[in-house]
This record gives sequence, C-alpha cells and structure tokens, in this order.
Amino acid sequence: MCNEKNSIENIADVNTEIRPDMVTHIWDVTGDMNKEETMEHLKEAAALLQDGSIVAFPTETVYGLGADARNTAAVESVFAAKGRPSDNPLIVHVASRAQLDGFTEPVNELSSRLMDTFWPGPLTLILPLKQKSLSEKVSAGLDTVGVRMPDHPVALELIAAADCPVAAPSANRSGRPSPTTSSHVREDLMGRIAGIVDGGPTGVGVESTVVEAHDDGTVTILRPGGITAEQLAEVAAEVRLDPGLSVDSVKADASSPAPRSPGMKYTHYAPKGELCVVQGAPDAVAAYVNGALSAAAARGERTAVLAFSEHLHLYRADAVYSLGSLERLAEGAHRLYAALRSCDEIGASVLYAEACPRDGLGDAIMNRLLKAAGHQIIHVTE
Ligand code: TXA
Ligand code: MG
Repeated sequence: MCNEKNSIENIADVNTEIRPDMVTHIWDVTGDMNKEETMEHLKEAAALLQDGSIVAFPTETVYGLGADARNTAAVESVFAAKGRPSDNPLIVHVASRAQLDGFTEPVNELSSRLMDTFWPGPLTLILPLKQKSLSEKVSAGLDTVGVRMPDHPVALELIAAADCPVAAPSANRSGRPSPTTSSHVREDLMGRIAGIVDGGPTGVGVESTVVEAHDDGTVTILRPGGITAEQLAEVAAEVRLDPGLSVDSVKADASSPAPRSPGMKYTHYAPKGELCVVQGAPDAVAAYVNGALSAAAARGERTAVLAFSEHLHLYRADAVYSLGSLERLAEGAHRLYAALRSCDEIGASVLYAEACPRDGLGDAIMNRLLKAAGHQIIHVTE
C-alpha cells in the first residue's frame, strides 16, 4: 500500500542561514529578443551574475538558478537559496564550445560528437574538470563536471553577456518540483535571490539528460531527460542506463547500487501530499485508484489524479490533471511539474498518477514520477 510519507533525506548539511528578505528583481523578456529593452534587461541580469549575485533564468528544460561557476561565494549562495545538499554537484552552462577550454580537459571523441549532434539542447555531458578552474563547490569534490549548452535564446544571451561559465541547478527549493514558469520560481525563491529573468514557460518541461560518454564509444545515462535513449543510440555504439537508476527497484535498500549522478539519490520533485504511481491496464488502474480515492475522500482527504488524456474520464477525484496524450509523451513532460505543483495548490493530500510506457520521453517522465512518489508504485493486475 501507499502509506509512506515522502521525505527529504540528508539535508542536515544545508546552509540555512539565508534569510528570505532580499529584493528580487524581475525582468520581463517574454517579448521580442531583438528589442533594445530585452537586451538591456539581460545586460543588467548579466552584471549581477558578474558581481557574484544569483539570478534565475529560463532554459528549454526548466528554469535554472545561475551563479558564476568560478565564484565560491556565489555558488554557496545557490546551495543556500535552494536548501540543496552540498554533495550534489551543479551543471555548468555555456553559450559556446570555446568556453569549455577554460574549465575542462580535452574531451573524448564521443563527447565531442554528442555535442555536435545535441548542443544546444537538453543534454548534459560529464567531462574531465580542469583543476582549479572552477569553484570546488560546483563539482562537490568530483574530478568531473556536468556541462550543457541550453537551447534557449535568453539563456544563451545571458551567459554570453555574463562572459563566464554559469553554474545553474533547477531554480526550485530542494525537494520541490522543478520550475517550468517564472511564477514557480517566485513561489520558491522570491526574497532569496537577486533576480528572475522571466522568459515565459519552458518548452521541454523535464531536465536535461545527464550522460557519461566513454572512450569505447558507449554512453551511460545517469539521469533520463529531454534527449531520449533512442536519440543517443543514433550516435553512440551502445546506450546503458546507470544501474543505480533501475526504476522498478522500489525504495533503494542497502544492496542497491548507488546512483552515479549524486542528485538521483534524493527524494525530489515531491508534492506535499502522498503520491503513488499505478501501472496496469487502464480500466483496472482506474478501478483501483477510484476505490482508493473514495476511501480517502471518506476520511476527509483531498484527492488528485494525474492521468493521460485518453483516460481522464475514468477518474473521480477532487482534481484530475491531464498529462496530455499517451501518443505524445512530450506533452506529459511539458506538463508534469506544473501538475504536481497544482496538487499542492488545491491542498491534495492523496494523489495517484498513471504510469506510462518507458519509450522516448516516457523514461524521463517515469523517473520523475517515481521520485516524486518516493518510488511507491503499484502494479494492478486484472
Ligand atoms: O535541464 C537541466 O539540466 C536543468 C537546467 C537548469 O539546465 N538543470 C538541472 O540541474 O537539472 P540540477 O542541479 O537540478 O541537476 C543536476 C544533476 C544532478 O542529478 C547532479 O547530481 C548531476 O546533474 N551532476 C552534476 N554534476 C555531475 C557530475 N560531475 N557527475 C555526476 N552527476 C553530476
Ligand atoms: Mg533539480
């Protein structure tokens, strides 16, 4: 049964000194990129980054919370504002391949081909870090660094104007769903950061795929995301999933391998209510969920369901949120985090989500749903 509360683990070492009383500047750059006003706004935001302040900005995946990756105090403010465990390294964002020379050692041939194919885009590569080139806080003591070039004109202009590698985790409080609109960033970080560049809703909706490209031409996926395993397989000799990610290995126990991407071990993306993922034939899933929901409603709980548009009519809950069509999983990726946040807004305490096939973006959706559910999944048989 789904009766365990989600918990945020291992946050004891988080710096909680930050006080939410800072003035957070908001720049609206949702209009024409070439307008003089837009460029002025981005220059102001870039100047704050250069000064060691932290600024949220849109990317094609989710909003990021940026800091100059060379500036330890700035990077520390990112961890503090998010309440993020310090052993979880940050992704560094670049606007050009030339920027890589400043902080990575020469990369292998496959890494280079993946950049040619997928950059700018939602692919983060784990690359060899040049010693002493970035703040040690960025890589959390590892000798590698995660790097990506976002496919968003605002992000690219901002990074180019700041003229530095920009460390940027997702711009949410740690444990909360990642932000896909500037209002999500406001909800979580207003008063904790210097500014928010509002570029409208993000496109992909789930974070980048994090990969390690090996010298033998194979790839390991450390975090599924916007670039699918199928897309990677067109470039790499073989694509493996980090064994530490194995999704159906319900709650990690002592015998499960640790995920290679440190962030994967934390409960994440979690709504405040108790979420359970349900897998099986649609009618059987709906019958199970409706039974559980009416019992919950009888106890006075507020209920919500996240389902694919083909099955919305099957559910009876206080709120039923659509993840779009099963035929177009990009819609599910795009809507997922906003739907999880909506569950909080209506005060839902008991939540169920439909599972989806793990092809294409389904892999990233299931990874996020299972993490949001603390790996609680029910397989319903007819
Ligand atoms: O789409 C994205 O990737 C967004 C946008 C803002 O770019 N960023 C993002 O960052 O999701 P964050 O910090 O929330 O997630 C970074 C992930 C974590 O799971 C972290 O453990 C992993 O990347 N990571 C970073 N550096 C790593 C490294 N050197 N080795 C292994 N994993 C690493
Ligand atoms: Mg994140």
